[in-house]
Amino acid sequence: MAGSDYHRPVLLEESLAVLALRPGFRVVDGTVGGGGHAEAMLRATDPDGTLIGFDVDPEALAAATARLAPFGHRVALEHASFRELGRVLAERGFLRVDAILLDLGVSSRQLDAPDRGFRFAEESADVTALDMRMDPRSERTAARLLQEATAEQLERWLREYGELSGARRLAETIVEVRREAPLRTVRDLLEVVARARVGGGRRHHPATLVFQALRIAVNDELAALEEGLEAAIDALAPGGRLAVIAYHSLEDRIVKQCLRREARGCVCPPRQPVCTCGREPRLRLLGRRAVRPSEHETRSNPRARSARLRAAERLPTSDAHSSREVA
Ligand SMILES: C[S@@+](CC[C@H](N)C(=O)[O-])C[C@H]1O[C@@H](n2cnc3c(N)ncnc32)[C@H](O)[C@@H]1O
Repeated sequence: MAGSDYHRPVLLEESLAVLALRPGFRVVDGTVGGGGHAEAMLRATDPDGTLIGFDVDPEALAAATARLAPFGHRVALEHASFRELGRVLAERGFLRVDAILLDLGVSSRQLDAPDRGFRFAEESADVTALDMRMDPRSERTAARLLQEATAEQLERWLREYGELSGARRLAETIVEVRREAPLRTVRDLLEVVARARVGGGRRHHPATLVFQALRIAVNDELAALEEGLEAAIDALAPGGRLAVIAYHSLEDRIVKQCLRREARGCVCPPRQPVCTCGREPRLRLLGRRAVRPSEHETRSNPRARSARLRAAERLPTSDAHSSREVA
C-alpha cells in the first residue's frame, strides 16, 4: 500500500508551523503511523535532520519504513510505545531533542481494517473478533477484558473512558451474558449493548462510546499518554518544541492539564501563601487555545473533525545550555 493511502495526516501544516523545524534538527515522531507527518518533518529538516519514529503497531512500522526509505540513515524506527521514549532515546544516544510530535489514537488504516475489531460495521460484525489491540504483542484483547474484568472494572471503564450513561447496567449485562458464553465477536458486543438499552447521548450511537471505552482500556491509552508527555518534556532540549494532536476530550484534557501544569511550575495549593514545592516552569505554552482543523480540512477528511493541536516550548533550566546554541 502506498504510504499516502495509509492515513491522511491531520493538521499537517499547523503542526509543522508550530514545531518551527530547521535543517539539522533532531526530531521524534512518537506515533509514526503511515509516516505522513514524519515525511513532512524530515523534508522540513533537510538536508541533515534526523528522526526517530515510534509505533506499537508493526504494520504501521512496515508502511512507514517503505515511505521513509528515501531518507536512508536519517531515519530510525522503533517498535515501542511512546511511554518508553526516555529509555529508547537514551539507548540510542538521541538526546536533547529539538521537536516531538504525538498524533494520538488510531490511524484510518487501523480503524478500517475489518480484522482488528476497532469498528462495529454491520456487514462484518459476525466475523470480526473483539481484538482492538494496537500492539499485537500484548495479550490484552477486548474479548479477554470483557471475559475477565469484574463488573466494577467494566463499569468504571465504560463511565470514565466512554462517558456512557447506563455504564452500570451495561457492565452487569456483560457479566450476565458471559456466564452463558464468552463475547467473541463485534456482533456479540452489539447485542449486549442493545439488550442493556444504554443511551449514547445526542451526538453518539451508544456502541461508539462502548467501543471507544474498550479501545482505551485495551491499549491503556490514557496512562500511556500521561507517561509519554512526561517523557517527551524530559527529552526536549531547551527551546525544543512539543506538539500533540488529540482526538477526543479525555485525551485533550490530559494534554491541556499537563502542559498548563508544566508552564505554571509551582504545584502548591492555590491558597498557600508561599511556595514550598520549589518547582520551576519547564514549558512555555504556544498559544492559549487548541488549534482546530480548517473547514477545508474537515470537509475533505471528516476524521480530522475532532482533532485538537496543542503545543509548548521547553524552557531553559538553570544548569542547561540550549542544544540550538551549542550546535
Ligand atoms: C493517528 S495515527 C498517526 C498517523 C501519522 N501521524 C501519519 O501521518 O501517518 C496514530 C498512530 O499511533 C500509534 N500509537 C498509538 N498509541 C501509541 C503509543 N502509546 N506508542 C506508540 N505508538 C502509538 C498507532 O498504532 C497509530 O499508528
